[in-house]
Amino acid sequence: MPGLTAPSDYSKEPPRHPSLKINSKEPFNAEPHRTALLSYITPVDFFYKRNHGPIPIVNDIERYCVSIGGLVKNPLEISMSEIRKLPKYSVIATLQCAGNRRTEMSKTRKVRGVGWDVAAVGNAKWGGAKLADVLELVGISKNTSSSPLGGKHVEFISIDKCKEENGGPYKASIPLRQATNPEADVLLAYEMNGETLNRDHGYPLRVIVPGVIGARSVKWLDRISIIEEECQGFFMQKDYKMFPPSVNWDNINWLSRKAQMDFPVQDLGLAQTLQNCLLCLNPSAGPLKGFQLKKNTVLIQSHSEAFGLSAICSLEDVDFVKPGKVTIAGYAVAGGGRGIERVDISVDGGRTWFEAQRCQRGNIPYQSDDLNNDKWAWVLFKAVVDVPESTVIIAKAVCTIAAIVLMNITIIPTDVDTASNVQPENVEVVWNLRGILNTSWHKVQVRRASQVAISNL
Ligand code: MTE
Repeated sequence: MPGLTAPSDYSKEPPRHPSLKINSKEPFNAEPHRTALLSYITPVDFFYKRNHGPIPIVNDIERYCVSIGGLVKNPLEISMSEIRKLPKYSVIATLQCAGNRRTEMSKTRKVRGVGWDVAAVGNAKWGGAKLADVLELVGISKNTSSSPLGGKHVEFISIDKCKEENGGPYKASIPLRQATNPEADVLLAYEMNGETLNRDHGYPLRVIVPGVIGARSVKWLDRISIIEEECQGFFMQKDYKMFPPSVNWDNINWLSRKAQMDFPVQDLGLAQTLQNCLLCLNPSAGPLKGFQLKKNTVLIQSHSEAFGLSAICSLEDVDFVKPGKVTIAGYAVAGGGRGIERVDISVDGGRTWFEAQRCQRGNIPYQSDDLNNDKWAWVLFKAVVDVPESTVIIAKAVCTIAAIVLMNITIIPTDVDTASNVQPENVEVVWNLRGILNTSWHKVQVRRASQVAISNL
């Protein structure tokens, strides 16, 4: 690629904030302290960094361009200045690594992968061109599921050298239907929080697929290819797939979990919600194979594209608090553009629950059905309470499932127990060998310390 090169070693990495917790140095994977997530927009310096190789370098931005080809009639090379001339959109969207909270999952039973606390997630204002507008330039109209030459997926190919790809670039794809849907807000982003993207986050251009696990938001974009079947790259086929707790490294069959790509993004999120429902109702069932509800039989394949979880960021996993009021605050995030119906807090280990306040921008109380919400963004929650002597504090989010429509079958939510659209209680039921999608309740242990004891901490 003219203008953009990929180093083979880590000698030219960008500078990073010294307070980041480094989970792996090479490739660089780091997260901020969890208290950095208490503000609605995450500052760039404290936004988690998830890489699979050395960070690419732009040698000459004037020469940089993205090629768009594959199953299109008129392939194109588009420069950065041409992309900037397209209508610019700003989307506030939460990006979350599927491995967020993996360290906690590993405590139950060991999993493979970089360990993350609760901060492999951040919320930013992304600025750029809509992918749907860019694809029109190569003759693919809006809201299309198949290109005139038979393309059904849009593959994003980077330039970084990844070990998992035997030194080849990181790549991923999304369905054409999602890519060409302007409402899905898929961006080719060149700005983050009003500033030019920095190297760690994909300079000069990255994809942002709102409501979907971060793995599909490819950084340092080199090529876009319109293809018939989903991308065959490592990170689509041999990683970031959700398996039941019974699957181990001896019996794993990666092909058995081909990501379902047929639903628009909202439904992808619902599929994951239902996966959690199923696990709540019947933990031994494992991730979605299908389940029966009243007369309707719904077959939904497992999908790892979106998931909901919440985490308390104002307290450590084990924390000492002074006598008096304690602030319990954190984020709740649902994939696929779903809202957060409630965040429930318990300060007695789960016996009784009360609702936390929720907000997005400007501390205005959040209503899940408000059309002005940032639908792709997390919701912050807060409660100030008296905490009894040493106890376990729990936060769990309830995601919106107003009416679920999948494959023309409607399930009215009254059929579903209220507890079924909340996060699963225990990590065991969502345990999987790659340690992804840990949506279990977030529990922190607080110990009341006496004034004397605190002064010694
Ligand atoms: N794109 C490229 N080219 N290389 C990568 O390693 N990591 C992916 C995605 N895009 C990755 C990539 C993963 S797994 C995540 S979670 C997000 O980028 C992280 O984006 P961030 O580092 O900007 O937070």
